[in-house]
Amino acid sequence: MILTNVSGTLGDIRLSINMSNYDVKIRNHWINRDNCKDLIATLERGGSHVADLDIDNLSSRDQMHAGLLNATKTFVEWIDLKPGSSVLDLGSGLGGSARYLASACSAAVTAVELCPELNEAANSLTRHLGLEDSIDHLCMDITAPGGLKIGKFDLVWIQHVDMQVAKKSELYTCAAEHLAKGGRIVWHDWLAGPGGPVIWPLFWSADGEISFLADREEFTNLLKTAGLEISRLEPIPDLTTSWFEKSRLGLSRVISKMKSSGSKSSKLDAFESLATEVDNALINIREKRLIPFFGEAVSR
Ligand SMILES: C[S@@+](CC[C@H](N)C(=O)[O-])C[C@H]1O[C@@H](n2cnc3c(N)ncnc32)[C@H](O)[C@@H]1O
Repeated sequence: MILTNVSGTLGDIRLSINMSNYDVKIRNHWINRDNCKDLIATLERGGSHVADLDIDNLSSRDQMHAGLLNATKTFVEWIDLKPGSSVLDLGSGLGGSARYLASACSAAVTAVELCPELNEAANSLTRHLGLEDSIDHLCMDITAPGGLKIGKFDLVWIQHVDMQVAKKSELYTCAAEHLAKGGRIVWHDWLAGPGGPVIWPLFWSADGEISFLADREEFTNLLKTAGLEISRLEPIPDLTTSWFEKSRLGLSRVISKMKSSGSKSSKLDAFESLATEVDNALINIREKRLIPFFGEAVSR
């Protein structure tokens, strides 16, 4: 495997990590997203820029999935998570859901993220919100050979990550290995649907290159091989459509306001790209090219 040394800085922290070309593509994709760039820059500016951040006003930036904080709250209800549970958040991004789980459900969370910049930003935000005793942020590849070996958990949480993971067997083996007795793995994620090829761009991939969607049958079979079985799987097209329609309305308002004020900024470009991704997501759902779902699996 070809490894690239990725280095950079975030505040005072020097980053240096060996990544495969595939991982570098994933990293470049996420650190260049407007929400991630914006949050990383806010943290670098520090001081009053950071002082007012809280779980609610961060949510349009640190909840990196369809439906943002509303989706996380609905997912937590669907799971019926017991207060004080231990949670392993695989592919935790900027840590928005980890912080919600820690603050609203008193969960003890271990959050694992591939991109050093996102992981550092997540860690800073967690400290800023005073949640560092409840959340450990680790920068690791959740499909690493030999697994993560970081203990056992009541819940393994996978939210909008599965669709981007090429090595699904490694991911499910890793998730299974970290389950405590009676534990569960839960997904808020995407499956390939029967409606035909996916229309790009979407928010996790511009052209499908860093997207690895399984269909329901492949998903079930891969879980079986990892010693897991699905206990619940609920497609959520209507719910996801309503979340996206709401965001689209908000985006349209912002875009027309910016245009009527003559703005030609990179922010306007970012909002217009986001609007295209939301439109495509809505078409993909309507035409059953993509199936958003909540799912749960247990050891067999
Ligand atoms: C769409 S974001 C979701 C982040 C978070 N779960 C959320 O919902 O806010 C997908 C995240 O998965 C991470 N990721 C993708 N492949 C990974 C891997 N092999 N190991 C760890 N993280 C990974 C990406 O870097 C990205 O931060």
